[in-house]
Amino acid sequence: MSNQQEGLVRYKGSDRLNHWLIAVLFVLATLGGLAMFHPSMFFLTGLFGGGSWTRILHPFIGSAMFVLFVLIFFKFWHHNVLNANDRKWLSQIGDVLNKNHDRLPEVGRYNGGQKAAFWVMVLTMILLVVSGLAFWRPYFSHYFSVDVTRVAALVHAVSAWVLILTIIAHVYAALWVKGTIGAMWTGVVSRAWARKHHPGWFKEVTGGK
Ligand code: HEM
Repeated sequence: MSNQQEGLVRYKGSDRLNHWLIAVLFVLATLGGLAMFHPSMFFLTGLFGGGSWTRILHPFIGSAMFVLFVLIFFKFWHHNVLNANDRKWLSQIGDVLNKNHDRLPEVGRYNGGQKAAFWVMVLTMILLVVSGLAFWRPYFSHYFSVDVTRVAALVHAVSAWVLILTIIAHVYAALWVKGTIGAMWTGVVSRAWARKHHPGWFKEVTGGK
């Protein structure tokens, strides 16, 4: 896991590529979705070549994002199982925001907030794809009653908003904790970053040295 003396490898190239593809698809799916959500955002359809193209492309973009997310899910779910330390970390969110690191329980590869966000992403992605399929005309919607497609549209909108807010928090946290963007960009983090923010993971990969 150690890279040249100073850095620690956190992400492989394939995982980083997958993550950034998901991020790009997420932004596109969000812009297209918002364009269709409310007339005030209809102007966003210009980015996709008009209203019809936005409507045609959106489900394909969303499906591609889901498929790539399934790959991340199978590689990362076991790093995101919440333990007693994570629950304590979440209950001490005041100390987290005030950067009282010494009062917090030991954080492993991910902290309680990252793990909770991961499971919200999983749940909302599943709800989005299942509800989206139910009203995807002309391919799947005819298998469902009008009532089901109406409920599906509501579930789709609510899950999309929850995912958007979660990703805003995800990006904010990545920018707020200095050195974190670099983890996903270069795949390597400094020993100081790991020792400070993820001491449990630091011990795991270095044996504490
Ligand atoms: C749009 C801009 C985004 C930025 C700037 C960003 C940034 C990052 C960074 C810096 C990390 C590394 C965190 C660490 O190692 O501690 C990370 C991890 C991760 N990101 Fe993103 N991300 C973005 C979008 C997304 C989206 C759209 C998704 C999925 C819907 C996503 C899912 C994940 C997952 C699953 C991880 C691994 C963390 C875990 O397993 O708990 N990210 N992201």
